[in-house]
Amino acid sequence: MTGVARYDEIADFYASGWTDVIDDPASRRLLDLLEPIAGRRVLEIACGHGRISRELARRGAQVVGADISAALIEKARSAERETPLGIRYLRADVTTGDALRDLGPFDAVACSFGLSDIDDLEGALATTAAALRPGGVLACSILHPCFPGGQSVSGSWPGDARYYAEGWWRADGELSSLRRQVGANHRTLSTYLNAFRRHGLLLEEMYEPEPPQEWAAKRPDAARFPVFLVMGFVKGGA
Ligand SMILES: C[S@@+](CC[C@H](N)C(=O)[O-])C[C@H]1O[C@@H](n2cnc3c(N)ncnc32)[C@H](O)[C@@H]1O
Repeated sequence: MTGVARYDEIADFYASGWTDVIDDPASRRLLDLLEPIAGRRVLEIACGHGRISRELARRGAQVVGADISAALIEKARSAERETPLGIRYLRADVTTGDALRDLGPFDAVACSFGLSDIDDLEGALATTAAALRPGGVLACSILHPCFPGGQSVSGSWPGDARYYAEGWWRADGELSSLRRQVGANHRTLSTYLNAFRRHGLLLEEMYEPEPPQEWAAKRPDAARFPVFLVMGFVKGGA
Protein backbone atom coordinates (compact mmCIF):
# COMPACT_ATOMS: atom_id res chain seq x y z
CA MET A 1 0.00 0.00 0.00
CA THR A 2 1.23 3.49 -0.76
CA GLY A 3 -1.39 5.50 1.17
CA VAL A 4 -1.13 6.16 4.90
CA ALA A 5 -3.76 4.73 7.28
CA ARG A 6 -3.88 7.75 9.60
CA TYR A 7 -7.30 6.81 10.98
CA ASP A 8 -6.09 3.54 12.54
CA GLU A 9 -4.89 5.54 15.56
CA ILE A 10 -8.16 7.43 15.98
CA ALA A 11 -10.77 4.87 14.90
CA ASP A 12 -12.72 5.04 18.18
CA PHE A 13 -12.67 8.85 18.18
CA TYR A 14 -13.87 9.00 14.57
CA ALA A 15 -16.59 6.36 14.87
CA SER A 16 -18.04 7.90 18.02
CA GLY A 17 -18.11 11.44 16.58
CA TRP A 18 -19.35 10.66 13.06
CA THR A 19 -22.34 8.42 13.56
CA ASP A 20 -25.07 6.87 11.42
CA VAL A 21 -27.26 9.92 12.00
CA ILE A 22 -26.70 11.60 8.67
CA ASP A 23 -28.28 15.00 9.00
CA ASP A 24 -25.61 17.48 7.92
CA PRO A 25 -26.43 19.48 4.77
CA ALA A 26 -23.41 18.23 2.79
CA SER A 27 -24.12 14.54 3.37
CA ARG A 28 -27.82 14.98 2.63
CA ARG A 29 -26.90 16.64 -0.67
CA LEU A 30 -24.39 13.90 -1.48
CA LEU A 31 -27.06 11.25 -0.95
CA ASP A 32 -29.57 13.20 -3.04
CA LEU A 33 -27.08 13.37 -5.91
CA LEU A 34 -26.94 9.57 -5.99
CA GLU A 35 -30.71 9.08 -6.18
CA PRO A 36 -32.42 7.05 -7.54
CA ILE A 37 -30.15 4.48 -5.94
CA ALA A 38 -32.37 1.47 -5.19
CA GLY A 39 -31.10 -1.61 -7.00
CA ARG A 40 -27.92 0.15 -8.19
CA ARG A 41 -24.36 -1.05 -7.59
CA VAL A 42 -22.48 1.55 -5.56
CA LEU A 43 -18.85 1.76 -4.48
CA GLU A 44 -17.99 4.02 -1.56
CA ILE A 45 -14.30 4.94 -1.61
CA ALA A 46 -12.73 6.01 1.71
CA CYS A 47 -15.83 4.62 3.45
CA GLY A 48 -14.37 4.74 6.98
CA HIS A 49 -16.53 2.74 9.40
CA GLY A 50 -19.29 2.61 6.79
CA ARG A 51 -21.89 5.14 7.94
CA ILE A 52 -22.62 6.38 4.38
CA SER A 53 -22.41 2.86 2.93
CA ARG A 54 -25.06 1.77 5.43
CA GLU A 55 -27.37 4.64 4.50
CA LEU A 56 -26.96 3.78 0.80
CA ALA A 57 -27.78 0.14 1.56
CA ARG A 58 -30.85 1.19 3.57
CA ARG A 59 -31.96 3.08 0.48
CA GLY A 60 -31.77 -0.16 -1.50
CA ALA A 61 -28.32 0.04 -3.12
CA GLN A 62 -25.93 -2.91 -3.43
CA VAL A 63 -22.86 -1.49 -1.74
CA VAL A 64 -19.14 -2.15 -1.64
CA GLY A 65 -17.17 0.02 0.80
CA ALA A 66 -13.38 0.39 0.63
CA ASP A 67 -11.02 2.08 3.07
CA ILE A 68 -7.32 1.97 3.84
CA SER A 69 -7.84 1.88 7.63
CA ALA A 70 -7.97 -1.68 8.97
CA ALA A 71 -9.42 -0.42 12.25
CA LEU A 72 -12.30 1.43 10.57
CA ILE A 73 -13.01 -1.46 8.19
CA GLU A 74 -13.18 -3.80 11.20
CA LYS A 75 -15.78 -1.48 12.76
CA ALA A 76 -17.73 -1.47 9.48
CA ARG A 77 -17.65 -5.27 9.30
CA SER A 78 -18.70 -5.54 12.91
CA ALA A 79 -21.75 -3.33 12.23
CA GLU A 80 -22.54 -5.52 9.21
CA ARG A 81 -22.35 -8.66 11.35
CA GLU A 82 -24.68 -7.06 13.89
CA THR A 83 -27.20 -5.72 11.39
CA PRO A 84 -26.65 -7.28 7.96
CA LEU A 85 -27.37 -4.95 5.05
CA GLY A 86 -25.51 -6.97 2.40
CA ILE A 87 -22.53 -4.58 2.29
CA ARG A 88 -19.11 -5.90 1.33
CA TYR A 89 -16.22 -4.05 2.98
CA LEU A 90 -12.65 -4.17 1.70
CA ARG A 91 -9.51 -2.91 3.28
CA ALA A 92 -7.95 -1.26 0.24
CA ASP A 93 -5.85 1.68 -0.82
CA VAL A 94 -8.14 3.22 -3.42
CA THR A 95 -5.21 5.00 -5.05
CA THR A 96 -3.82 1.76 -6.44
CA GLY A 97 -7.07 0.16 -7.58
CA ASP A 98 -5.63 -3.37 -7.35
CA ALA A 99 -8.17 -4.70 -4.86
CA LEU A 100 -11.11 -3.16 -6.72
CA ARG A 101 -10.15 -4.14 -10.25
CA ASP A 102 -12.53 -7.09 -10.70
CA LEU A 103 -15.48 -5.72 -8.70
CA GLY A 104 -16.94 -3.29 -11.22
CA PRO A 105 -18.57 -1.92 -13.15
CA PHE A 106 -20.49 0.22 -10.67
CA ASP A 107 -23.43 2.51 -11.40
CA ALA A 108 -22.16 5.04 -8.90
CA VAL A 109 -19.18 5.90 -6.71
CA ALA A 110 -19.52 7.95 -3.51
CA CYS A 111 -16.77 9.77 -1.64
CA SER A 112 -17.92 11.43 1.57
CA PHE A 113 -15.33 13.81 3.04
CA GLY A 114 -12.55 11.55 1.76
CA LEU A 115 -10.78 13.54 -0.97
CA SER A 116 -8.65 15.63 1.37
CA ASP A 117 -7.58 12.50 3.26
CA ILE A 118 -6.42 10.78 0.08
CA ASP A 119 -2.79 11.63 -0.61
CA ASP A 120 -2.78 10.61 -4.29
CA LEU A 121 -5.78 12.26 -5.96
CA GLU A 122 -4.84 11.09 -9.46
CA GLY A 123 -4.61 7.49 -8.27
CA ALA A 124 -8.02 7.64 -6.58
CA LEU A 125 -9.65 9.17 -9.66
CA ALA A 126 -8.07 6.55 -11.94
CA THR A 127 -9.56 3.85 -9.69
CA THR A 128 -12.92 5.61 -9.68
CA ALA A 129 -13.04 6.06 -13.45
CA ALA A 130 -12.09 2.41 -13.98
CA ALA A 131 -14.77 1.23 -11.54
CA LEU A 132 -17.64 3.24 -13.05
CA ARG A 133 -19.66 2.19 -16.06
CA PRO A 134 -19.96 4.80 -18.84
CA GLY A 135 -22.70 7.21 -17.75
CA GLY A 136 -22.15 6.23 -14.11
CA VAL A 137 -22.19 8.89 -11.41
CA LEU A 138 -19.56 10.07 -8.94
CA ALA A 139 -20.72 12.14 -5.96
CA CYS A 140 -18.19 13.77 -3.59
CA SER A 141 -18.45 15.97 -0.52
CA ILE A 142 -15.52 17.87 0.93
CA LEU A 143 -14.68 20.80 3.17
CA HIS A 144 -14.74 23.62 0.63
CA PRO A 145 -11.19 24.08 -0.74
CA CYS A 146 -11.80 27.87 -0.56
CA PHE A 147 -12.90 27.86 3.11
CA PRO A 148 -10.39 30.02 5.00
CA GLY A 149 -11.63 29.06 8.48
CA GLY A 150 -12.19 31.41 11.40
CA GLN A 151 -10.97 32.20 14.90
CA SER A 152 -11.48 28.78 16.42
CA VAL A 153 -11.94 26.60 13.37
CA SER A 154 -9.25 25.83 10.81
CA GLY A 155 -9.89 26.28 7.12
CA SER A 156 -8.72 24.19 4.20
CA TRP A 157 -5.13 25.47 4.32
CA PRO A 158 -2.84 26.70 7.14
CA GLY A 159 -3.81 30.07 8.60
CA ASP A 160 -0.29 31.41 8.05
CA ALA A 161 -0.09 30.20 4.44
CA ARG A 162 -1.79 30.99 1.14
CA TYR A 163 -4.74 29.33 -0.58
CA TYR A 164 -2.39 28.69 -3.52
CA ALA A 165 0.09 26.61 -1.49
CA GLU A 166 -1.02 23.01 -1.86
CA GLY A 167 0.09 20.10 0.27
CA TRP A 168 -0.52 18.06 3.40
CA TRP A 169 -0.80 19.99 6.66
CA ARG A 170 -2.16 19.62 10.18
CA ALA A 171 -4.85 21.98 11.48
CA ASP A 172 -4.49 23.84 14.79
CA GLY A 173 -7.99 25.31 15.23
CA GLU A 174 -9.41 24.60 18.67
CA LEU A 175 -12.63 23.18 17.19
CA SER A 176 -10.92 21.27 14.36
CA SER A 177 -10.57 18.15 16.47
CA LEU A 178 -10.34 15.71 13.56
CA ARG A 179 -7.94 17.66 11.35
CA ARG A 180 -5.66 18.39 14.30
CA GLN A 181 -5.11 14.63 14.52
CA VAL A 182 -5.09 13.37 10.94
CA GLY A 183 -4.25 16.52 8.97
CA ALA A 184 -5.53 17.06 5.43
CA ASN A 185 -4.35 17.52 1.87
CA HIS A 186 -5.09 20.99 0.56
CA ARG A 187 -5.69 21.37 -3.16
CA THR A 188 -7.11 24.35 -4.98
CA LEU A 189 -10.53 24.11 -6.55
CA SER A 190 -8.99 24.23 -10.03
CA THR A 191 -6.64 21.35 -9.20
CA TYR A 192 -9.67 19.26 -8.23
CA LEU A 193 -11.82 20.14 -11.22
CA ASN A 194 -9.03 19.69 -13.76
CA ALA A 195 -8.09 16.32 -12.26
CA PHE A 196 -11.67 15.03 -12.49
CA ARG A 197 -11.86 16.14 -16.10
CA ARG A 198 -8.55 14.43 -16.96
CA HIS A 199 -10.09 11.16 -15.79
CA GLY A 200 -13.20 11.57 -17.95
CA LEU A 201 -15.36 12.59 -14.98
CA LEU A 202 -17.50 15.47 -16.18
CA LEU A 203 -18.99 17.95 -13.71
CA GLU A 204 -22.81 17.83 -13.75
CA GLU A 205 -23.81 19.57 -10.54
CA MET A 206 -22.05 21.57 -7.84
CA TYR A 207 -23.47 22.77 -4.52
CA GLU A 208 -22.16 24.81 -1.60
CA PRO A 209 -24.61 23.85 1.15
CA GLU A 210 -24.80 26.25 4.06
CA PRO A 211 -23.72 24.85 7.43
CA PRO A 212 -26.40 24.29 10.09
CA GLN A 213 -27.57 27.48 11.84
CA GLU A 214 -26.22 26.36 15.24
CA TRP A 215 -22.77 25.87 13.68
CA ALA A 216 -22.91 29.28 12.01
CA ALA A 217 -24.16 31.01 15.16
CA LYS A 218 -21.10 29.80 17.11
CA ARG A 219 -18.66 30.74 14.36
CA PRO A 220 -20.03 33.90 12.70
CA ASP A 221 -16.62 34.84 11.27
CA ALA A 222 -16.14 31.49 9.55
CA ALA A 223 -19.78 31.23 8.46
CA ARG A 224 -19.33 34.19 6.11
CA PHE A 225 -17.53 31.83 3.73
CA PRO A 226 -18.53 28.68 1.85
CA VAL A 227 -17.87 25.74 4.17
CA PHE A 228 -18.90 22.67 2.18
CA LEU A 229 -18.60 21.65 -1.45
CA VAL A 230 -20.63 18.82 -2.98
CA MET A 231 -20.08 17.80 -6.58
CA GLY A 232 -21.70 15.34 -8.94
CA PHE A 233 -19.87 14.00 -12.01
CA VAL A 234 -20.78 11.68 -14.84
CA LYS A 235 -18.32 9.33 -16.48
CA GLY A 236 -18.16 10.23 -20.15
CA GLY A 237 -18.54 7.76 -22.97
CA ALA A 238 -22.14 6.61 -22.33
C1 LIG B 1 -13.05 11.80 6.98
S1 LIG B 1 -12.95 10.06 6.77
C2 LIG B 1 -14.48 9.79 5.88
C3 LIG B 1 -15.05 8.41 6.15
C4 LIG B 1 -16.46 8.19 5.61
N1 LIG B 1 -16.54 8.40 4.18
C5 LIG B 1 -17.46 9.06 6.32
O1 LIG B 1 -18.11 9.93 5.70
O2 LIG B 1 -17.58 8.91 7.54
C6 LIG B 1 -11.74 9.87 5.50
C7 LIG B 1 -11.39 8.42 5.19
O3 LIG B 1 -10.48 8.35 4.10
C8 LIG B 1 -9.74 7.14 4.26
N2 LIG B 1 -8.61 7.11 3.32
C9 LIG B 1 -7.56 7.97 3.25
N3 LIG B 1 -6.70 7.61 2.28
C10 LIG B 1 -7.24 6.49 1.69
C11 LIG B 1 -6.82 5.64 0.62
N4 LIG B 1 -5.69 5.89 -0.05
N5 LIG B 1 -7.60 4.58 0.30
C12 LIG B 1 -8.75 4.34 0.98
N6 LIG B 1 -9.18 5.09 2.01
C13 LIG B 1 -8.45 6.17 2.36
C14 LIG B 1 -9.39 7.19 5.73
O4 LIG B 1 -8.91 5.96 6.23
C15 LIG B 1 -10.72 7.66 6.35
O5 LIG B 1 -11.52 6.57 6.71
